[in-house]
Amino acid sequence: MRSTHCVALLAVSKEILRLATIIPIDEAGAAEQAALERLEAGDAVALPTETVYGLAADACHDAAVAKVFRLKGRPSFNPLICHVADIAMARAFGTFDDNALRLAEAFWPGPLTLVLPRRDDAERPVSPGVLAGLDTIALRQPAGLVSRLAARLGRPIAAPSANRSGGVSPTTADHVARAYPATELLVLDGGPCRIGLESTVVKVEADRLVVLRPGAIDEHMLAAATGLPVVAGGGDRIEAPGMLASHYAPGARLELAVTHCPRGAALIAFGSADGKDRSGASATRNLSETGDLDEAAARLYAAMQALDDTDPALICVEPIPDSGIGKAINDRLRRAAAPKEPA
Ligand code: TXA
Ligand code: MG
Repeated sequence: MRSTHCVALLAVSKEILRLATIIPIDEAGAAEQAALERLEAGDAVALPTETVYGLAADACHDAAVAKVFRLKGRPSFNPLICHVADIAMARAFGTFDDNALRLAEAFWPGPLTLVLPRRDDAERPVSPGVLAGLDTIALRQPAGLVSRLAARLGRPIAAPSANRSGGVSPTTADHVARAYPATELLVLDGGPCRIGLESTVVKVEADRLVVLRPGAIDEHMLAAATGLPVVAGGGDRIEAPGMLASHYAPGARLELAVTHCPRGAALIAFGSADGKDRSGASATRNLSETGDLDEAAARLYAAMQALDDTDPALICVEPIPDSGIGKAINDRLRRAAAPKEPA
């Protein structure tokens, strides 16, 4: 009896703490209008993109940008992506050379973020918080809602992934709401994100492209669009804090490339069971029964969340082929598995 009461109380208190309002995106545009009004008022709002959900604010509004950093618990040295309406808006904030233009024309709207020298002659510059002191700016034209909102706002929308800093990026509205239990936050629900992994981040240099974060637009596609050599970024110097070793991490410890799941561990499976032992798994999510990497990318973060909710000591992940978007999946898995840094 007492434990029933406890469970009921817990359910009620969770409900009381849930202050986020989730509204589905409707044909009539009421949800979009509500989001626009929040952006215009200098508030933060959570919005779906084709990659992951973002925590969005008017990029030129200092207090709104500060609110995004505060809500996320994001260190101030980590700059934000500016989401633009189109190439014309992007060109007011970043310097495009021929290759940057080719990339934007080939892949926008879409899951590609260009890191370019920033311009400081914009009529209304972006908030210094967005740039975190860098002389470059990260620009992306997403598909659909967010670029439309940037057009209606008349300014870029700054939006990091809507997870709390260091956590798993949300790919559903519910995951966003859960990350901010005691926060009044409007979350627009566009259903699960189509791609499910964050955009490819590319620094465009004069004679090469540096991939700071792999994503759905892979190095072959980047090379084909420009003819430039493409190198993986990083090395010792951290250019994008998304490159920090531990990132995108669930609560449980992760072990990768496991073909024999130990008893009691939760399992992220991939493809068929051939040559694998899944019998010990306490809970299983298969990213793609048919071994489809796009499907696996779209399901990865939701699988991590769902298995983490079962409170396992260990989450094992079966091997994922390291080609195409599989590279981005493995990149996120390695970061999720890395030892956590002190907060
Ligand atoms: O798909 C995405 O990119 C999502 C959706 C919401 O658009 N956004 C996203 O934002 O993943 P965020 O902040 O979680 O990751 C952006 C990454 C960070 O690692 C940040 O450090 C890096 O881009 N970044 C931003 N501006 C940069 C700059 N000027 N130079 C280098 N890296 C930059
Ligand atoms: Mg992020």
